[in-house]
Amino acid sequence: MVAVADINAQGGAETVRMIERAGGDALFCETDVSSEPSVQHAISTAVSHFGGLDVLYNNAGGSSRNDGSVVSATIDEFWRVMRVDLFGTWLCCRFGIPEIIKRGGGSVVNTVSHVALVGMRNMSAYSAAKGGIAALTRATAVEFGEQGVRVNAIAPSITRTERVLRALEGQPAVQSLASRHLVGLGEPQHVAHAALYLASAESGVVTGHILSVDSGVTIT
Ligand SMILES: NC(=O)c1ccc[n+]([C@@H]2O[C@H](COP(=O)([O-])OP(=O)(O)OC[C@H]3O[C@@H](n4cnc5c(N)ncnc54)[C@H](O)[C@@H]3O)[C@@H](O)[C@H]2O)c1
Repeated sequence: MVAVADINAQGGAETVRMIERAGGDALFCETDVSSEPSVQHAISTAVSHFGGLDVLYNNAGGSSRNDGSVVSATIDEFWRVMRVDLFGTWLCCRFGIPEIIKRGGGSVVNTVSHVALVGMRNMSAYSAAKGGIAALTRATAVEFGEQGVRVNAIAPSITRTERVLRALEGQPAVQSLASRHLVGLGEPQHVAHAALYLASAESGVVTGHILSVDSGVTIT
């Protein structure tokens, strides 16, 4: 049973159809993760529909071409990525974790990026937001461990989503980063499998961890 929360109604509905085609039960709730009432509504809809919340997967976000160094990024882009990536994750934890505690524990999976672990040029706003989520992951794991809530994050590098395939076309810096991936570029399924592991009992004592799913690029 999966509650899909996304600002994009068309994409969300398609995700629900994919889950249903695979035999699962899913519900779409149009949500802006940067809006407190919207997140509150999404969590309460999921809980009332499915009877509780066991896993919270915070994945909304991403960088844009308006990012840059601290002197070249636009101020609007700084606040956009802070609102969606960092504040959105914080808000979803704020309303989601109390529901997980009511179930006796569960798993929160956040999404960072290799830029939370290594320095990258021209991504100052995105790096600050993802670095913030990495720190939030550790703080939240410490805060709620006693109540059975595990909190981890996935750090992908280049993963071939539609958005990133478009970015690969026009940007030499991204192409150069792509060439440093040791075993090929990531596919969305690689991230999904990592999320499933962190969500499941198989990762029972893994908490506060940042799991790189990055084709080794962080160590090159
Ligand atoms: N694809 C990569 O190469 C890559 C690398 C590192 C990290 N990541 C991270 O992985 C996550 C997913 O990236 P992706 O490449 O699949 O991007 P994507 O753009 O394909 O997916 C992001 C999703 O977030 C949704 N979203 C955006 N703003 C939202 C909001 N305010 N409220 C609710 N939903 C919102 C979008 O509608 C979209 O469905 C992001 O957090 C991104 O930073 C991606």
